[in-house]
Amino acid sequence: AYTWLYQFPLPIPPVKTPIMTITNPVTGNPIDYYQIYISQFTQKVYPTKDDAVLVGYDGMSPGPTFLVEKGHETVVRFINNATLASAVHLHGSYSRAPWDGWAEDTIAPGEFKDYYYPNSQSARFLWYHDHAVDHTAENAYFGQAGGYILHDPAEDALNLPSGYGQFDIPLILTSKQYKSDGTLFSPASEETSLFGDVIHVNGQPWPYFNVQPRKYRLRFLDASISRTFLLYFQRQTGSTAKIPFQVIASDSGLLESPATTSELYISMAERYEVIFDFSPFAGQNITLRNTEDVGENDDFFHTDKVMRFVVSSTPVTDTSAVPSSLATIPWPPPAGTTVDHHFLFHRSNSEWQINGVVFANTANRVLANVPRGTVEVWELENSSGGWTHPIHIHLVDFKVLSRTNGLRPVYNYESQGLKDVVWLGPGETVKVEAHYAPWDGVYMFHCHNLVHEDHEMMAAFNVTALLD
Ligand code: C2O
Ligand code: CU
Repeated sequence: AYTWLYQFPLPIPPVKTPIMTITNPVTGNPIDYYQIYISQFTQKVYPTKDDAVLVGYDGMSPGPTFLVEKGHETVVRFINNATLASAVHLHGSYSRAPWDGWAEDTIAPGEFKDYYYPNSQSARFLWYHDHAVDHTAENAYFGQAGGYILHDPAEDALNLPSGYGQFDIPLILTSKQYKSDGTLFSPASEETSLFGDVIHVNGQPWPYFNVQPRKYRLRFLDASISRTFLLYFQRQTGSTAKIPFQVIASDSGLLESPATTSELYISMAERYEVIFDFSPFAGQNITLRNTEDVGENDDFFHTDKVMRFVVSSTPVTDTSAVPSSLATIPWPPPAGTTVDHHFLFHRSNSEWQINGVVFANTANRVLANVPRGTVEVWELENSSGGWTHPIHIHLVDFKVLSRTNGLRPVYNYESQGLKDVVWLGPGETVKVEAHYAPWDGVYMFHCHNLVHEDHEMMAAFNVTALLD
């Protein structure tokens, strides 16, 4: 069985092109207009089974990749030609509330919505995905997720490995489960998690990717609905040692300086960008592996494997570089000892709750009022037994201050840059600090195990006044 592991090439999602560009008369910036159809399609995904039925953006999963230069504003018309309502969230963007993908602000089948994105943040790897109330897990799992790469001049000047699909490669991880007919087992009736036994990268189960013996920029995104990973690289033959690599960016873009590690924890919705140098491995195969028995994932035959890199034996000249100083991070001012809000993530009444509240509790779900422009420390506490909750706060980039009560520290690659999701493991308490700006409005925060999110582990905060 599984003789087809690493036998199919890594797909690179195509670049999305604008249909027109006009000049914004207010800002003077170009506005690029895009149009995306949400529709059902069939595709052979599992090599030895029949076609899967997917619902994705522009008839593919993951959806096409946006490549956007800072200073180009975008308007994306999402046209829902599918049968379930959708809402679209550009994860990593400080979108104004009307375009942030509020879960109840759905696009009904047959309708469309135009979303406006300012793209005035620093370079980063964002992603767009469904956020429809009660159906996010299902919609994302069946295909509504895609990459969105924002570039800026400071990063472009660094001479990192570049060229989308060439030396700058998105690696969008998902984990799903297939029925014998090749269609997907749905998460719609799950209440705790759907871990999946088939690991996909860019939509392909266990692919291979041909690389040159040189440095690559690998943009990891865990787009799984429930599976966390602890990734490492290993030679196919010879030494089983975990090969060190450099993490250069996380959710909100470049780290202050590269963090060297030989393994990388990544939970749902987190992004980490890695420089992997294949030059010592000319003519060899390097396998990207996943560590089993981490988190509460159910593991299966091959969930300890992700993909394979086949390194050419032909030498090449690599003029790219990884500077020891990557970026100046706009850290929030040093936090005092005060915790402004404490949120408990737990399970009761067969529901996932935050401070006892579920998202359907419309009267009580705004759990924090934050004056715009203030810096706050939020303490996130996981008291739900063995469960992991990757916590995502919309609108802001935060600094991970501490992780206590569990076994894990804050890793270098979590603390050297700003983030928008933090892995809150069993028993852990994590403190995060953010500047609640630039906009006011009501925004969501939630667990990014999308089954938990749909089963109500989501609440809101209200950025209220004008103190900046
Ligand atoms: Cu990636 Cu509220 O979402
Ligand atoms: Cu959760």
